[in-house]
Amino acid sequence: MQNSQEVQSATAALRAALEAASGAFSQPFGAHCISCGSTEKNASPIGLILGTGLSGLADRLAERVAVPYADLPGFPASSVDSHVGAFVWGRFPTACGEDDDVPGRPVLIQQGRCHLYEGRTPAEVCMGVRVMAGMGVKTLIITNAAGALNPTFDAGSIMCMTDFINHTGHSPLVGCNCDQWGQRFPDMSMPFDAELRALAMETSAKMGLRLERGVYIGVRGPEMETPAETRMYRQWGADAVGMSTVLEVIAARHMGMRVLGLSCLSNKNLPDCMTPAPLEEIILVAAQAGKNLGRLIRAMVTKL
Ligand code: HPA
Repeated sequence: MQNSQEVQSATAALRAALEAASGAFSQPFGAHCISCGSTEKNASPIGLILGTGLSGLADRLAERVAVPYADLPGFPASSVDSHVGAFVWGRFPTACGEDDDVPGRPVLIQQGRCHLYEGRTPAEVCMGVRVMAGMGVKTLIITNAAGALNPTFDAGSIMCMTDFINHTGHSPLVGCNCDQWGQRFPDMSMPFDAELRALAMETSAKMGLRLERGVYIGVRGPEMETPAETRMYRQWGADAVGMSTVLEVIAARHMGMRVLGLSCLSNKNLPDCMTPAPLEEIILVAAQAGKNLGRLIRAMVTKL
């Protein structure tokens, strides 16, 4: 079942709330720093979805306006404590320094998300992506916390997703196709944008930050993986496992967005020496890795 009416209402409410709160928002997508190499295509806001333990990234923005999901009709809140429920609009500083006269790149941040394991439908899980598309977002950065399956990846490191396996058993595109969103059988030969991935690798290398590359497998959860499942996912070619992201990427690609996916690897899942990964530990490690992730995203956004 598609929810285009609900998406339209939530988008209209978000736009109205941002316009009411911020004079800057009435001309949000036009002004952008010429010396950063911006062109017309750069005028739209960058979308950013912040996952478990990563919400802090939305705190340091110029002209920051937050709109709680509860103010948007029909927009699903997350029942997970570590997920703040708000859209945040603002600007990251430009690459030109702290010049107050130069407006930074606008960003629209989804601070927290809902999940299938909360009993949410695929349409609800993807509502944020579809609202962002309605707000003019064409480039989307999706983050999450994930368990490392690749034994060479350390907990606390960051992985740039090169591809994904959708093992949730769901698709947000089931049902009548919504033609204004995209085509019936969208291509998935390159779910993550090659240019954005290259920029992430180049930027992290310049910062001296190690960025792993790998395949993310999305599962429904909420239970963590057994050793046998962990072994199987690794044999399938996955490097990290998590309970979000894949449906959002499908919805974003369906709508023609360019997508970058970054995972904070909060724990290691090794089938022959499994140890419990409690949520508190996942949040703590993701928040630590999130500091580096924040630096990387800030450095990248001005170049997009
Ligand atoms: N498995 C599934 N989801 C996760 C994990 C994990 O090990 N770590 C963080 N999110």
